Amino acid sequence: MAKAKASELDWNKLGFGYRDLPYRWQDEYVDGHWLGGGLTADSNMVLNEAAQVLHYGQEVFEGLKAYRTKEGKVQLFRPSDNAKRLNNSADRLLMPHYPEEKFLEAVKAVVKANEEFVPPYGTGGTLYLRPFMVGTQPLVGVTPAENFVFRVYATPVGAYVKGLTPMPYVLSKYDRAAPAGTGQAKTSGNYAASLLPEMEAKKAGYADALYLDPKEHKYVDEFSGANFFGVTKDGQFVTPKSNSILPSITKRSLLQVAEDLGLNPVEKQLTLADLDNLAEAGAMGTAAVISPVGSLTDLDGKKHVFYSETEVGPVTTKLYNALMNVQLGDAEDTHGWVVPVD
Ligand SMILES: Cc1ncc(COP(=O)(O)O)c(C=O)c1O
Repeated sequence: MAKAKASELDWNKLGFGYRDLPYRWQDEYVDGHWLGGGLTADSNMVLNEAAQVLHYGQEVFEGLKAYRTKEGKVQLFRPSDNAKRLNNSADRLLMPHYPEEKFLEAVKAVVKANEEFVPPYGTGGTLYLRPFMVGTQPLVGVTPAENFVFRVYATPVGAYVKGLTPMPYVLSKYDRAAPAGTGQAKTSGNYAASLLPEMEAKKAGYADALYLDPKEHKYVDEFSGANFFGVTKDGQFVTPKSNSILPSITKRSLLQVAEDLGLNPVEKQLTLADLDNLAEAGAMGTAAVISPVGSLTDLDGKKHVFYSETEVGPVTTKLYNALMNVQLGDAEDTHGWVVPVD
């Protein structure tokens, strides 16, 4: 694959795809410790045919962005939270931790080395970062690897959905098969299980599928790649409390933003019947920040419209602006979420 050239990119039409940038970070875990890592130009990884990850899926990954401010500086949003979540996921899959300070060093080094690929302020574009770890040891039996590779690659991405456009969503008839706990959803195996429901939803004209809890099929869990939130008719911010969803950093941030805006936020189990009491609904995650849920179609084909199928609700707009402004450096970072890349 040819290396990307910054001068050839149209920052306003980036889409959400992979580009082969000049540098990435790689570290190796051998004999019980990380070697230290560093930048490399090679975007290919050579794996043995029996590498653990290829068969038994010992893999964890994260997703975060570097944002260009109006002044032309570059900043990260809560990267330590990604480091912590990666290590929580690693615990569940018997993988070593990547030390938080090394994670920050790696992420910053990759941003700096590819700085010309951080899209300009005002284009809606960002530099997406993908830290991940895989078990590389050749193994035939189902056992955990002893050797691992940690890598961080970067790719410039456009606004996931331009502006705040309400989208139709559909209830999934499948379980995503995520094991209960924290962060485990971010493993390759679990994401492969969501490919079919997501593809079927998209083919039928929906933006994504919404999963119910895998145990009782009674409570709202989350979307394939984002958490769910609603705003009740009394103006309260609500989001599902569940141990089978990914603990979203955007959700954690919006819970705080909602508190700051006086929306009395609460995390609680939400049944499908509870959705009738919502005036607005949205999907939240790093990729889209917020994607307003215009409607949700249930398994009987019945469509429930939230605020509007074409317009964004006022509370959703307020939440989106408040968070985006901090991420882009347009509002004061009162909670210490922003980390400059100098
Ligand atoms: C399944 C799932 N839920 C939620 C999220 C949102 O998490 P975050 O806000 O940390 O990006 C993601 C993000 O990739 C995800 O894959």
